Amino acid sequence: MSNNEKPVGHARIETNNFLMIVLITLVVAVGGLVEIVPLFFQKSTTQPIEGLKPYSALQLAGRDVYVSEGCYNCHSQMVRPFQAETLRYGPYSVAGEYVYDRPFQWGSKRTGPDLHRVGGRYSDEWHRIHLMNPRDLVPESNMPAYPWLATKVVDETQLPKRMEVLRTLGAPYTDEEIAGSMEAVKGKTEMEAVIAYLQVLGIHRSALTSAPAAQAPAESDTSVAQVKPAAAAQ
Ligand code: HEC
Repeated sequence: MSNNEKPVGHARIETNNFLMIVLITLVVAVGGLVEIVPLFFQKSTTQPIEGLKPYSALQLAGRDVYVSEGCYNCHSQMVRPFQAETLRYGPYSVAGEYVYDRPFQWGSKRTGPDLHRVGGRYSDEWHRIHLMNPRDLVPESNMPAYPWLATKVVDETQLPKRMEVLRTLGAPYTDEEIAGSMEAVKGKTEMEAVIAYLQVLGIHRSALTSAPAAQAPAESDTSVAQVKPAAAAQ
């Protein structure tokens, strides 16, 4: 192409910054929308899985503790569908488990283990000792101690409003639950709240998948974080 020839076709786009930027934006926008928009309408991403309940007032308060203490910086809440993950943590996470999570606590870093299947794995007392000082239970742990959670009392005044907002966004709270939320957490410590939260993490899908596991013992092994060769059958 000589200098005085006007570029045509694709050459025109490649020689014009403005046109290039506009067209790239357009292509990325359309490509993004095509991928993202259907997710708002797919049943598997918008419907809660069977038996899923929105967080109770105390669990919700505990979730706030989890967020404000930054637990998500070291813990993810998403078991990926890989054998190495399901053997260690239990059934992989599905979108329908998160529909009442606002915002999600998927996390992006695992300094500590994934917590999405930690509900019911340990006793409340285990969690209490662990949060007071992780090294009392896991000597090599580098998780910080959170002793103040045991003395700090939950601020219950925000809860009714928060639950109302969550209801607007789709969590099926009843009027009674909202009205009783302050009473339900009154005087509870942040320790009690965060433990209540940890204890419901991921239990609904675990409950669903443990039914077929009754006939297939290999699968049930995966739900108790044991790595057994038999579980490889999954
Ligand atoms: C600096 C990173 C870090 C932070 C922050 C952190 N943890 Fe941990 N956590 C770890 C590590 C590492 C382990 C594994 C060793 C252990 O059990 O202590 C762990 C383990 C755990 C376990 C046991 C999981 C299992 O399956 O055995 C729980 C529950 C837990 N953390 C909860 C919390 C909570 C709640 C918070 C916030 C209050 C928190 N962690 C903050 C690093 C962290």
